[in-house]
Amino acid sequence: MTARDPGDPRLAALEAGAALEDPTALEAGAALADAPIATLEAAAARVMRPDAHAYYATGARDERTLRENEHAWDAWWLRPRRLTGALDVSLEVPLLGRVVRHPIVVGPSAMHALAHPDAELGIARAVAALGGTMVLSMSSTTAVEEVGAVPDLDLWFQVYPLADESHTRSTVDRALAAGVRALVLTVDVPSEADTSARPPGGFDTRGIRFPHHSGDGHIRRGLDWAWAERLNASCGVPVVLKGILHPDDARRAADAGFAAIVVSNHGGRTLDGAIPSAVALPDCVAAADGRVEVYVDGGIRRGGHALMALALGARAVLVARPVLWGLALGGAAGARTVLARLVRELREDAEHAGVADLRSVDGDIVVPARWPTRATDRAPR
Ligand SMILES: Cc1cc2nc3c(=O)[nH]c(=O)nc-3n(C[C@H](O)[C@H](O)[C@H](O)COP(=O)(O)O)c2cc1C
Repeated sequence: MTARDPGDPRLAALEAGAALEDPTALEAGAALADAPIATLEAAAARVMRPDAHAYYATGARDERTLRENEHAWDAWWLRPRRLTGALDVSLEVPLLGRVVRHPIVVGPSAMHALAHPDAELGIARAVAALGGTMVLSMSSTTAVEEVGAVPDLDLWFQVYPLADESHTRSTVDRALAAGVRALVLTVDVPSEADTSARPPGGFDTRGIRFPHHSGDGHIRRGLDWAWAERLNASCGVPVVLKGILHPDDARRAADAGFAAIVVSNHGGRTLDGAIPSAVALPDCVAAADGRVEVYVDGGIRRGGHALMALALGARAVLVARPVLWGLALGGAAGARTVLARLVRELREDAEHAGVADLRSVDGDIVVPARWPTRATDRAPR
């Protein structure tokens, strides 16, 4: 019986929301840990407040970019190598000068308290347990000092440039004092225009605290390279630009001496119609030309997607929603189960593809799909 077998009673229990009552339910069976992320999302939708679920799940306007982020990974095929002797695959990669145990980074996402009381601390503990890296959102519901105290966590901090310059700077200084190893400057939210496809009525943030800004902290409009370069020159830690999609911007980031870029469209939440990140990645990698580390996020739902991203030249991938569904279903344990599964899949798929070491994935093991990619496209009529 597999996780996809609709008769699996554990899957049925998960879908009925049993995990909320029993935080370890997600870990109860290996089969559950293999359930597709879409199944976990469906289960999470049953245990979350509808407005909170809508906040996590939706994208901008018609959600074209949101949808295509996932489908775009289907536009690539893995072309495995044989007889390579690959064994005990090493997942270690150097990120910003430190070797981390695996390249699946938990990306920044706001307001984890809407998902589960474990909130950002739960995710942080899950990430630390697996020797990984987490980017804490500036719009988190847990203070950077608290998350920074979690042992064995490689913690980076995401920055939204606020209209109030001194507030931005003091928040950056707090994060640096809390020991974050890098700053991630989000450059794809140029205004507060609400492009979200969420049902009208907003969502309820009563009882939620925002330790880094008031919750309606106004975004600095008209952000430019000069502002980003000043931050880079003044903070003493590596700065990563998140939200790059155009190769000329990747090149400029390298020229300007930024440490890394995240090829990202913000999970389809800002500009609908923006290019899916799996499509944007190769041009950005080529433009970066090895002078700046390249990461990618958006629609990573399997370890195999991460392997494709690395073969396309990314150093690491970021994931957001999958871990949020795990958090919603089982707190810290649920988040860990989802993250551990992605890491395990990456190891297994790398071995199947004949890759022994993620530091040197041959770009030749991924090729563009040149025929219909979905079974339905070929289904007899
Ligand atoms: C609920 C939610 C909140 C987010 N909040 C932030 C944020 O505060 N800062 C940020 O830079 N990106 C934010 N993002 C974007 C993610 O970091 C990331 O770019 C994207 O969601 C990755 O795609 P995935 O959700 O398909 O993994 C958020 C995404 C989601 C789903």
